[in-house]
Amino acid sequence: MPLITAVRVADTIAGMRRAREEMCGTVGLVPTMGYLHEGHLSLVRRSRRDNDYTVVSIFVNPTQFGPGEDLSRYPRDISRDLGLLEKLGTDVVFSPPPEDMYYEDASSWIVVEKVTDRLEGAVRPGHFRGVATVVGKLFNIVEPHRAYFGQKDAQQVVVIQKIVADLDFNLEVVVCPTVREPDGLAMSSRNSYLDSEQRRAALVLYHSLQKAQREYSAGVRDAGRIRREMAEILQSEQLAEVDYISVASPLTMEELDTVEDQALVSLAVKIGKTRLIDNIVLGG
Ligand code: PAJ
Repeated sequence: MPLITAVRVADTIAGMRRAREEMCGTVGLVPTMGYLHEGHLSLVRRSRRDNDYTVVSIFVNPTQFGPGEDLSRYPRDISRDLGLLEKLGTDVVFSPPPEDMYYEDASSWIVVEKVTDRLEGAVRPGHFRGVATVVGKLFNIVEPHRAYFGQKDAQQVVVIQKIVADLDFNLEVVVCPTVREPDGLAMSSRNSYLDSEQRRAALVLYHSLQKAQREYSAGVRDAGRIRREMAEILQSEQLAEVDYISVASPLTMEELDTVEDQALVSLAVKIGKTRLIDNIVLGG
């Protein structure tokens, strides 16, 4: 059934390229997997402010999901998303089907080394290969002047910055702050998986990050101590199962012994079957 909306929707690569040819002025791209929330919309608003045109891609990218991850049940609601984007004044929504983005015999990948060895890259093998490849393809298809990403996915930002620098994509990466619910939970499409008890438990991620911030503000620079204090808070929540707690260099993602300059404090925690991530930067 065709979707009735005032937003221009390009659902093929060819259609997106046609729409792009008509744009004379600067173009901002906001890549998403849809099921939009205020975090996504903050990127769209920023792009609208910075550019003459804004393109939002909605594509649940199969290559960044590992076996046993939530690809088939990832939340989707394209008509709601289009309504929200129409209100904000998006120029084009690019939402291709997977067959259009990945030919059966496609065998080229963008692989970013080193910074993907740790954290999300270590726990989710192949994840960043999928992210880097799809984002590289989106850059080639949309040819934006600027592309917008959330600090919520801190390691993803580093991976994108690496491909832009290493492969000479001619665009600026704009990083936007994490948008949170009023109680502090970082907004995420995956929050919709949580029942009310799990939603309450999920706050423990934010509480542990706040603890890290308080320790740092009180003068603590021992990264091990910060990790231990965070672990203690996380262990107090029975529904939470910790994947990792990290105090690392925001550039290399290597774990720190001492916080000298800036530190990326990040964590991944399972609440029931739902895996949540969050982070803050200390000293930044
Ligand atoms: P998705 O999870 O839909 O997120 C799209 C963009 O929104 C990402 O840049 C993400 O960091 C940002 N975002 C998500 N939650 C946010 C929040 N609470 N505050 C601020 N920004 C937030 O990230 C992806 O999709 C995919 O990996 C993608 C880059 C689209 C490649 O497939």
